[in-house]
Amino acid sequence: MSELKVYKCTICGTTVEILNGNGSSLTCCGQNMVELKANTADAAAEKHVPVIEKEGDKILVKVGEVPHPMDPDHYIVWIAMVSDEKVVKVNLKPGDKPEATFCYVPGATVYAYCNKHNLWKKDVE
Ligand SMILES: [Fe+2]
Repeated sequence: MSELKVYKCTICGTTVEILNGNGSSLTCCGQNMVELKANTADAAAEKHVPVIEKEGDKILVKVGEVPHPMDPDHYIVWIAMVSDEKVVKVNLKPGDKPEATFCYVPGATVYAYCNKHNLWKKDVE
């Protein structure tokens, strides 16, 4: 299964997404970027772990059992689905619903990125 790695600069907040290889030597603002470990931020899991609802040949991904806020200073920046065959990413903005629809790909992984609480993921069954 393909894995999405996300690195973040702890100074300026820049993120880099890697689909192949690793970013162990990525630097920004003069220091190493930090790899974000999904589902480990000290934040409410029920507002961040993606919830996947299968609808025929599609899946509806909702960020959070309890919908995540979509405020200007705290929101889900993107939702992505990564599989061996494809990568699909939906960019969101404040005021949008924290949701995205993708084709159903068994074994894929869905990721969500919160601007305050980093990376979250859930496997597609
Ligand atoms: Fe958050």
